[in-house]
Amino acid sequence: MSIVITGNPGVGKHTISEKIAERMNLSIIDINTIAKDSGLFEKNDDSNDVDVEELEKILEEKISEKNVIVGHLAPYVLRRNQVKVMIVLRRNPYELIPVYQDRKYSDNKIRENTGSEILGIIAHDAMNKFQEKIFQIDVSEKSIPEVVENVMATILENNGNEQVDWLELVKKNNDLGKFFVD
Ligand SMILES: Nc1ncnc2c1ncn2[C@@H]1O[C@H](COP(=O)(O)OP(=O)(O)O)[C@@H](O)[C@H]1O
Ligand SMILES: [Mg+2]
Repeated sequence: MSIVITGNPGVGKHTISEKIAERMNLSIIDINTIAKDSGLFEKNDDSNDVDVEELEKILEEKISEKNVIVGHLAPYVLRRNQVKVMIVLRRNPYELIPVYQDRKYSDNKIRENTGSEILGIIAHDAMNKFQEKIFQIDVSEKSIPEVVENVMATILENNGNEQVDWLELVKKNNDLGKFFVD
């Protein structure tokens, strides 16, 4: 059973997964790379427009041992028996905006992705399917080594689940219109 790192684009999945894989001497399975190589993305890399059933089948064949599996689609394409622990990295939406701007995302795509983080869609879907295997870690204002330590503690000791509520924060800042304008 594998260690899974998921969360919205820009939360630090790939950065953290590489360090965890190194620390645990495991290899990385990148769900996006596999989907891309299999020609499954219909539009673009960060889209959810992918045949999840087909991807689930392909992953079933590829995952034979303990790996570090990374990708925002993880909750939708993995099966419970493949997962030892699934870590959902969470990041303050105000921190995500500059990451997305650096990636030259359109305003629309920025709103889509920050909106998804504010509502906690991936965490919600992951908890529905994987329950006690899900741990959320808030990476906001933490250095990369700090996040790695938190993730390692979660993997080794099964602790460190954090509660996040970006919606409360966004409401308090009167920014609902900024993130959810139509
Ligand atoms: N804990 C952290 N603190 C500050 N910046 C981070 C942290 N983790 C990742 N980053 C930076 O955030 C950006 C997005 O990280 P990345 O690993 O590509 O995220 P993802 O794979 O989830 O899209 C990168 O520029 C990365 O260097
Ligand atoms: Mg990435």
